[in-house]
Amino acid sequence: MENLISLVNKIQRACTALGDHGEESALPTLWDALPAIAVVGGQSSGKSSVLESIVGKDFLPRGAGIVTRRPLVLQLHKINEGREYAEFMHLPRKRFTDFAAVRKEISDETDRETGRSKQISSVPIHLSIYSPNVVNLTLIDLPGLTKVAVEGQPESIVQDIENMVRSFIEKPNCIILAISPANQDLATSDAIKISREVDPKGERTFGVLTKIDLMDKGTDAVDMLEGRSYKLQFPWIGVVNRSQADINKSVDMIAARRREYEYFANSPEYRHLANRMGSEHLGKMLSKHLETVIKSRIPGLQSLINKTINELEGELSRLGKPIASDAGGKLYMIMEICRNFDQVFKEHLDGARSGGEKI
Ligand code: GDP
Ligand code: NA
Ligand code: MG
Repeated sequence: MENLISLVNKIQRACTALGDHGEESALPTLWDALPAIAVVGGQSSGKSSVLESIVGKDFLPRGAGIVTRRPLVLQLHKINEGREYAEFMHLPRKRFTDFAAVRKEISDETDRETGRSKQISSVPIHLSIYSPNVVNLTLIDLPGLTKVAVEGQPESIVQDIENMVRSFIEKPNCIILAISPANQDLATSDAIKISREVDPKGERTFGVLTKIDLMDKGTDAVDMLEGRSYKLQFPWIGVVNRSQADINKSVDMIAARRREYEYFANSPEYRHLANRMGSEHLGKMLSKHLETVIKSRIPGLQSLINKTINELEGELSRLGKPIASDAGGKLYMIMEICRNFDQVFKEHLDGARSGGEKI
């Protein structure tokens, strides 16, 4: 049976590929109905580091100031064998095996949309990574929340970023990955502040605590990790990412994951929590959660898909016989994907009914 997350990935890509044409149909509604995970946090809270640890690769632009200036929709696809590679939706059929080139393309593509102006844009960049070392997962990286505009940026940027982040996370289908540094008071966390606004009961927010290794001597993160400082429905997850010195020394990501695991397993304060700490656990847990959420939404998604198929059929008959490269061809392609989607959903539901798989 096809994996539900890769199926949802396909439909997300198809909705986007359809572009403007989709606005006349149910597709934007469909896109909003698809569950996704958005990463939010203040500048330098460790968002890029967490994403790279989940992927197990260095591929994100770094530097001081606001580096992420467009949303990055990152789709991870687990492959069983072969060399890992990346693909951008704006560069179809170009395979990147050099991840330094991926990083450069993200920067260049950001500049293409915003000019080199340090402005932000809400037009997403779509990147897919195929690797034996990832779990199936879709993550949306968003610009870091900030308190002041820097040289060359309009005063409005602080509010613009906040509004953009909010527009993603206020959707009820958005799962929020809220990143807070452990060496700052949680009460001042930008991630908690904005996620509390849209999800006051913490029903779709995952709290991630970074920089646990940088806490003051004599203090620890146990109260935060055990949910006593700020309660969420899901358990908090602590991570230890690579420090700037590690990055400068190009410490390998897989080695860093192992070191992270040992950090928790060997600290007397954290030993009892070690099996639910770290980036590897975070990736697995998010993938499992995303799949559960998708399963719970199958009936609603199915009726939306059927509505989409009907609309597309109507539009196609108006357009006449489709030719592969024009809008009609695209509509035809997405309709096929929708039909396939509907079929696989049915299989999942049948599997659940016969007790093969639980929903
Ligand atoms: P972002 O702005 O939220 O994307 O933050 P980055 O991931 O770029 O991290 C900002 C800085 O903090 C970098 O120099 C990282 O190396 C460092 N950093 C992030 N997480 C940790 C951590 O858990 N421990 C340590 N020691 N440094 C970290
Ligand atoms: Na950040
Ligand atoms: Mg970053």
